[in-house]
Amino acid sequence: MKKSIKSIALVILVLSLLACKKEKSESKISYYNGTESHNIGQNCMNCHDQGGEGEYLFSIAGTVYDSSLVNTYPNATLKLFTGSNGTGELKYTIQVDALGNFYSTELINFDNGLYASIEGSLQAKNMMTVLNSGQCNSCHGVTIDKIWTK
Ligand code: HEC
Ligand code: HEC
Repeated sequence: MKKSIKSIALVILVLSLLACKKEKSESKISYYNGTESHNIGQNCMNCHDQGGEGEYLFSIAGTVYDSSLVNTYPNATLKLFTGSNGTGELKYTIQVDALGNFYSTELINFDNGLYASIEGSLQAKNMMTVLNSGQCNSCHGVTIDKIWTK
């Protein structure tokens, strides 16, 4: 008897977890000239994470500025490499939208670490430190300068 109650509880738990996952399983990826995003400069995953109020579960998201660090830089390109300074294998390419925001629900494997590069029309800027997280605005604009390019 006890055992069956336990297994019923387990089934309910699994089902509710699945339901929760399903709620945010839709895909959403930023693209050049897109204007769907908002909350420029904020850590998108404060809301777009499991349990957060934001629609969509982002694996990576953030904001790119121009050299003024005030205005955003639209339509830049984010690339993730296996090596530093744009070396190694190019694993992912994400288009920055018209507001300067980028985001993706795509599964991004940070297990072996990835290196970010932000390409503007004149310059590609590389992050030297290896990344294990896609919450770009959790550091940039908080503990370190905003991400910027030109
Ligand atoms: C304070 C919570 C919060 C933060 C922070 C936040 N979002 Fe959202 N986001 C939401 C909510 C809630 C929705 C769904 C309702 C809506 O569209 O406003 C949403 C929807 C979206 C959508 C879908 C809009 C559509 O038309 O389908 C995109 C794209 C998006 N957010 C991108 C971002 C990006 C990029 C960031 C970070 C720069 C971010 N969000 C930060 C709460 C947030
Ligand atoms: C854990 C904190 C942290 C996170 C998360 C983070 N960064 Fe960085 N980023 C840094 C620090 C510190 C530097 C400066 C030192 C360096 O280049 O490693 C930096 C530098 C950069 C630079 C080069 C800046 C310049 O002035 O040339 C770019 C571009 C960049 N990051 C992009 C990103 C992107 C894109 C993401 C999200 C995928 C991200 N960063 C996530 C801390 C972070």
